[in-house]
Amino acid sequence: MRKPVIAGNWKLYKTTPEALELVNGLKPLVVNNSRVEIVVAPVFTVLASVKQAIAGSPVSLAAQNCYWEEEGAFTGEVSPKMLVDAGCTHVIIGHSERRQYFGETDATVNKKIKASLNAGLTVLFCIGETLAEREAEQTLDVLKTQLCGGLEGLSGEQLAKVVIAYEPVWAIGTGKTATNDQAQDAHSFIRGVVGGLYGTAVSDAMRILYGGSVKPDNIKGLMAQPDIDGALVGGASLNAESFAAIVNHQA
Ligand code: PGA
Repeated sequence: MRKPVIAGNWKLYKTTPEALELVNGLKPLVVNNSRVEIVVAPVFTVLASVKQAIAGSPVSLAAQNCYWEEEGAFTGEVSPKMLVDAGCTHVIIGHSERRQYFGETDATVNKKIKASLNAGLTVLFCIGETLAEREAEQTLDVLKTQLCGGLEGLSGEQLAKVVIAYEPVWAIGTGKTATNDQAQDAHSFIRGVVGGLYGTAVSDAMRILYGGSVKPDNIKGLMAQPDIDGALVGGASLNAESFAAIVNHQA
């Protein structure tokens, strides 16, 4: 059985008081939910405060990015070891906004995934096609390239701590969700690629999340798909009630 993951990507939102208000509002709404792995990913500067606030709750902490070196003369970067020090158990790697605005490539994503796994973090590894790529019918090629590039050199054992997030770029922040069938098709393809690389024991255990305009009113349909194991939620994770409604979609 794959335990579902619902992760909230707060992006560049929430100062410390705002973050604490959100997480303190969220905790009582999800306290009894042990069916779902619940993750929130605030900005670096509030990680330690949020860590304190979630102590004793079922909510886990993720960062939104990291660097691949452990330490050194790399001004402005944060290493996986430092994320662990701040209380993170998870890290998002390769989000399309990082690929689009910050020059992230499959090669840098791969280095970051390896470094994060070495530090003991669970990686939420994001892939997804742009609208132009979908319209040019390149979706499957793009997904395969991103998957193979990001996972290069990893062992099947290491994949136990990797969660894939399929996020079609055209669905992120646009209110335009992929249909259940579009998402299922992509997820099933991704599981097949992982199976081809690592065997079906690994691909059957792999959790694959959908991301892109997930809301309380579309989560059930997405989660009913056989290859969708959770969601990476942006906008709707910035509000305690809507994120809790997504987390508690089975209730
Ligand atoms: P969205 O963002 O839910 O606001 O579309 C998802 C994401 O970027 O992870």
